[in-house]
Amino acid sequence: MKNYRSMDTELIHAMVQPDEKTGAIAQSIVPAVAYAFPDCETAADVVTGNKEGIYYGRYGNATIKTLEDKIAYLENGEAALGVSSGMAAISIAILAYVKHGEHVLVTKDVYGGTHKFLTTLAPRFGISYDFVDCTSMDVIEQAIQPNTKAIYIETPSNPCLTVLDIRDIAKIANLYNIPLIVDNTFMSPYLQKPLELGANVVVHSATKYLNGHGDVLAGFIVAKKQDIHHMRKNVMGDLGQVLNSWDAFLILRGLKTLALRVHRHCDNAHAIAHYLETHPGIEKVYYPGLPSHPQHALAKKQMRAMGGIVSFEVKGGYQASKQFINALKLAMISFSLGDPETLVQHPATMTHSSVPAFEREKFGITDGLIRLSLGLEEAQDIIADLEQALAQLSQNITT
Ligand SMILES: Cc1ncc(COP(=O)(O)O)c(C=O)c1O
Repeated sequence: MKNYRSMDTELIHAMVQPDEKTGAIAQSIVPAVAYAFPDCETAADVVTGNKEGIYYGRYGNATIKTLEDKIAYLENGEAALGVSSGMAAISIAILAYVKHGEHVLVTKDVYGGTHKFLTTLAPRFGISYDFVDCTSMDVIEQAIQPNTKAIYIETPSNPCLTVLDIRDIAKIANLYNIPLIVDNTFMSPYLQKPLELGANVVVHSATKYLNGHGDVLAGFIVAKKQDIHHMRKNVMGDLGQVLNSWDAFLILRGLKTLALRVHRHCDNAHAIAHYLETHPGIEKVYYPGLPSHPQHALAKKQMRAMGGIVSFEVKGGYQASKQFINALKLAMISFSLGDPETLVQHPATMTHSSVPAFEREKFGITDGLIRLSLGLEEAQDIIADLEQALAQLSQNITT
């Protein structure tokens, strides 16, 4: 069946079956931490990974397993690991490939939490890093050191929506035998499949589009089976960053509407990016779907659609951007994204506040930058909200 069904259908049907006993179509929530084995030999085989199975709740459970299989399938990977947050996925993936005395090469604009992990916690374990401009293959190649053990990218990036060429970066990574890790949070497997483009590992904050309702914290790593086994046993299990079965169930439910939701998020983002680009009160708009975006052609090639996030600067810098955000009535000021509600935030003082000011400036995260996560509302209502906030700004400027 696999090759004949569209992704929209797979989101609903792949890797799930009605319950064998009851016929229930919704997946069961298995709360069990303890599992019984018929004999010691089977228990030993499961713990070593020689036999498939679940042995203790800190390493996964049956509901999580169903979801992991589904995520792996959707990303076209061998296996997936469900963990307690996007940051758990990112830190586990990096710690699995990079150890004391080794180096990770990172694209220069990443989620603030990733930046914080790499610049504060990872160095305490002897891991070094370099943030470089990954739009240039020459820059990447020059930044590779003999001890570089991972290349880590996010595309499109948070919050400046820089699009990176996964295929080209994967070629360099393969040449040097370095795993390429891609944060696919902004796209979801519905819009972009990094493994098919040559990446080795995908990480997700499932807190965003995959669950899609703002009520779950979760993350995923998709990679080769043996790598996922190692992460499960030797990193996630040791750090205790497992997902729980209720949240896994909610994501299984959320995935059924991912295609519908993502279409609407993208349509709204497209409409709002175009509206903002022609507004006289706007300084700059970042959206891969705009022909003015520097990687627009690459985005069209690499991504199925352009995503639901639009970043922009209003004229008047920091003060104006704060006034504008405070004047919004429909859009809610919030740190998250990918929810049904349109969410707005000020990266310099919110999601990226832990990045030092001089580095933010280097990464293009100006004090005037605003990030909008377009929700599922009617586009005209979102535009009306932006319009009234922009009108208040121009009033303040003229009075
Ligand atoms: C691109 C990206 N990756 C990872 C994360 C971290 O996810 P979580 O909050 O689920 O830990 C975020 C959070 O906003 C994000 O935007």
